[in-house]
Amino acid sequence: MREDFARLMMEYRFAVDEVLTKVTILRDEFLHLHRYNPIEHVSSRVKTAKSILEKVVRRRLDPSLPEIREKITDIAGIRITCSFVADTYHILDALTSQDDVRVLEIKDYIQDPKPSGYKSLHAIIEIPVFLSTGAVAVPVEVQIRTIAMDFWASLEHKIFYKYDGAVPDHLAADLADAAQAAEQLDHRMEQLHTEAHSSSEEADTDANPVDIDDALLHNLWELSKQKI
Ligand code: GTP
Ligand code: MG
Repeated sequence: MREDFARLMMEYRFAVDEVLTKVTILRDEFLHLHRYNPIEHVSSRVKTAKSILEKVVRRRLDPSLPEIREKITDIAGIRITCSFVADTYHILDALTSQDDVRVLEIKDYIQDPKPSGYKSLHAIIEIPVFLSTGAVAVPVEVQIRTIAMDFWASLEHKIFYKYDGAVPDHLAADLADAAQAAEQLDHRMEQLHTEAHSSSEEADTDANPVDIDDALLHNLWELSKQKI
């Protein structure tokens, strides 16, 4: 059992690595195409044996590997913090539309925040990990949010744990207010970004590095033809 559990954990680590590679590719390609980085931060974790067991007990699951494999879908977790709300949806679409990704579940807590004020996009995806014995499909929980949502969630998480889940009403109300403020900040930042981006595109038309490269290439091409 111990050996099998260690092997299972290894599969989740590989799955995390696979998804991290996908996210890196998306980020670099996005940067190349749109000249800005939509992803501010990426973190990942594989649940510890202790917290898996706690979940088995809390959910009254059978403490067997097949049951854990089937019922606990957040053993491998990736959190992607984006610059803007629109980016969270772009990244989710780009990730979930890949051929080797199977979507098990999507929860849009940006569209429908939790009563606490929590906002994020959640996806449980399954990706194949290729081992010497063949491919295994491994679930990974992906959370995608903005910096403001992340700031709020980490503070709320700390407060929640400090009070062991029984957050006093006045603090819960303040948190709900702060969630509103975070939403307004996201909105304003996105407006500012769109404005700055469109005016820099206008100002850029003459000094676009791609245009310069194109012109250089064109000249080279003309030169090469002359020599022939
Ligand atoms: P879990 O049993 O915790 O996995 O919940 P679930 O199966 O109902 O899934 P859900 O999508 O609601 O939440 C999964 C994860 O999202 C949690 O483990 C947290 O990381 C995060 N999360 C969900 N709700 C909240 C919240 O109200 N506050 C904060 N800070 N994080 C949350
Ligand atoms: Mg969870």
